[in-house]
Amino acid sequence: MTTALSALHLSKTYRYRGGSTQALDDVTFDIPAGETYGLIGRNGAGKTTFLRIAGTLLMPTSGTVMVLGRDIRTEERAIRTRIAMVPQESRPLYFVSTEELILWYLRMRGMDNLESRRRTNGVIEELGLTDVRSRLVSLLSGGQRRRVMVAMVLASDAEVLFLDEPTTGLDPLARREVWAAISRATRERRTVLLTTHYLDEAEALSAHLALLEGGRLRVEGSPESIRSRVQLPYRVTVDTSWTVEELGSYGSVSPIVNGHLLFTREKEAREVVQAALARGSRVSLAPVSLEDIFLQLVGRPLDEDPPAEKEAA
Ligand SMILES: Nc1ncnc2c1ncn2[C@@H]1O[C@H](COP(=O)(O)OP(=O)(O)O)[C@@H](O)[C@H]1O
Ligand SMILES: [Mg+2]
Repeated sequence: MTTALSALHLSKTYRYRGGSTQALDDVTFDIPAGETYGLIGRNGAGKTTFLRIAGTLLMPTSGTVMVLGRDIRTEERAIRTRIAMVPQESRPLYFVSTEELILWYLRMRGMDNLESRRRTNGVIEELGLTDVRSRLVSLLSGGQRRRVMVAMVLASDAEVLFLDEPTTGLDPLARREVWAAISRATRERRTVLLTTHYLDEAEALSAHLALLEGGRLRVEGSPESIRSRVQLPYRVTVDTSWTVEELGSYGSVSPIVNGHLLFTREKEAREVVQAALARGSRVSLAPVSLEDIFLQLVGRPLDEDPPAEKEAA
């Protein structure tokens, strides 16, 4: 297995008048080449800071990142031609059409005219932008603009793609189109580093995941290996014919609409399901989701903060 990116004891402290914020704190992990890697965490966890450093836009305070075997501190020129990024708060140029913008981006990167046109046509179709291909970018909705940005980097020949919350503000259908396009990039053996606070997205796309919380790496690995590390790997829901006290002996209980959510071990999960069925209660049993794992590890749901960006009309 080759490594596309290695973070080595990476720390970043922003200093400003009146204080400082440690956005990253001794973060070390590897991203294997040719896969989608999910960097997850709530707002303020340090995801964008990590991407900006790895993308050679920001210097670390200490430690470093190696991208394709080169050091971001000293070899940023050599790295820049081989990476592409969709920044979090980015807005594409306004006064050109969708098609012109993508084409122009590819030509800027040094791709020849024929290949640029071929790829532009392909990506426009893939990301559902056919209807707006000749429309001025200034007239697109927020979600369409976001997709144009994703289309630009996917159509490029960059080996490592950085996507900072590429689907925030997109409707469910547009999200799926972006997911499919990201999957295609990894089928082409490109490496994608994706940040998101949607755990279904992280789980659907990523071969490996890292969870940042307050600038620290809290969990890292494949979804299965992360799942195997939680103490209470099953989720049971029961209706209000049960009390919190009754359930408390089986595991960790929290309230949900019309009932209770119980995190528990396998043996206790079987016991409580049998008892609930005997009583005629409504009951469900499933392995914990990534969202549950996050809840168990950090104590709050990941998307507690609403997304900042909304789809403009
Ligand atoms: N330019 C900056 N100056 C000062 N603080 C910053 C700056 N950029 C980010 N931060 C702070 O660093 C922390 C991490 O931010 P960020 O990397 O944007 O997290 P995320 O992308 O996970 O939401 C936050 O507390 C944020 O307020
Ligand atoms: Mg961010």
